[in-house]
Amino acid sequence: MTISPPAWDGPAIVVDGVHKRFGDVHALRGIDLVVERGTVLGLLGPNGAGKTTVVKVLTTLLPPDAGRALVEGRDVVRSPEAVREVVGLAGQSAAIQDELTGRENLEILGRLYHLGRRQARRRAQELLERFDLGDAADRPAKTYSGGMQRRLDLAASLVAEPPVLFLDEPTTGLDPRSRIGMWAVIRELVAGGTTLLLTTQYLDEADELADEIVVVDHGLVIAAGTAEALKTRVGGDVLELTVKDAGRLAEAASALAGIGDGAPGVDEDTGRIHVPVGGRGSQAVVGAVRALDAAGIETDGLGVRRPSLDDVFLALTGHAAEAEPDGGRGRRRRHRREGPERGAAAARSGDGETP
Ligand SMILES: Nc1ncnc2c1ncn2[C@@H]1O[C@H](COP(=O)(O)OP(=O)(O)OP(=O)(O)O)[C@@H](O)[C@H]1O
Ligand SMILES: [Mg+2]
Repeated sequence: MTISPPAWDGPAIVVDGVHKRFGDVHALRGIDLVVERGTVLGLLGPNGAGKTTVVKVLTTLLPPDAGRALVEGRDVVRSPEAVREVVGLAGQSAAIQDELTGRENLEILGRLYHLGRRQARRRAQELLERFDLGDAADRPAKTYSGGMQRRLDLAASLVAEPPVLFLDEPTTGLDPRSRIGMWAVIRELVAGGTTLLLTTQYLDEADELADEIVVVDHGLVIAAGTAEALKTRVGGDVLELTVKDAGRLAEAASALAGIGDGAPGVDEDTGRIHVPVGGRGSQAVVGAVRALDAAGIETDGLGVRRPSLDDVFLALTGHAAEAEPDGGRGRRRRHRREGPERGAAAARSGDGETP
């Protein structure tokens, strides 16, 4: 018999000082976060930052070593079953059986969640239509494209209509059209009152979907706030260009010294220069073209872009976010390029404190 926990009117998710080790890898080093009910939290970070580990702790797949984690007031260590009643999970740990059709997968899950046969069938049909899988419903899931499998996985996580949903990198590997389709589905869920914790490596995705963003790196929260607040810390838009003659990089950087909101950053490996320009992109482009022209320096691909996750990292930590060479299984590689330009980037952002 299950005893219903008392009604909870606090935040949907509370994580307080959570640690997790895997052998000598200290994956979570004291994570704190709060997600208010009916809102979307974007957990942003590079490979190996600890995003999936946070999700696994919150969905009771992994016990924390220390600290406290509550979902709808239910403690993941003391009442894991009560937590499982209120969470849905889609993402890197899929629950789909390849040999079964999309419809069979969803119907079986419905029965597992104690829906009657007719109700399970109706729910499966509803989800297949909502996720645009109607035509493929009766084909084995193994014949689905990556994007279709992702949608089926998300549909599976919704069979039980959980009030709190975890999406682990829902759009990684999707083409731009499927990505936008997935965003639409996610927005619809949130409009229906679902609380959502979403992990992503893309700032634009967090920007689109999240009410609040928490940036993690090496198992620690390094920044939290709205997308706008984070971008302000980065310094707005970025002018970027490649210098054709790598030997003239330093010269180009000094020619561009006055056009942005700070010293230009130089990446010697790629020959790229980037300058934070706030909201004055077109003015900066004109200024840059003039300055480089006057110095007789040729460039490629000069343009202004929105800040990326890399820019956020550069501004927050003074180092770039780098992917792990082994796809996330081994220990995270330390950042090798800590040249003077990295320090300059950190100083330029006006964010000297390193947590
Ligand atoms: N089962 C495990 N055994 C050993 N180490 C692990 C295990 N799971 C995760 N790790 C390590 O813990 C750290 C955090 O991993 P995690 O999967 O949480 O990162 P992530 O932010 O989800 O990365 P990605 O963007 O690649 O999915 C990494 O160093 C990873 O190698
Ligand atoms: Mg992950």
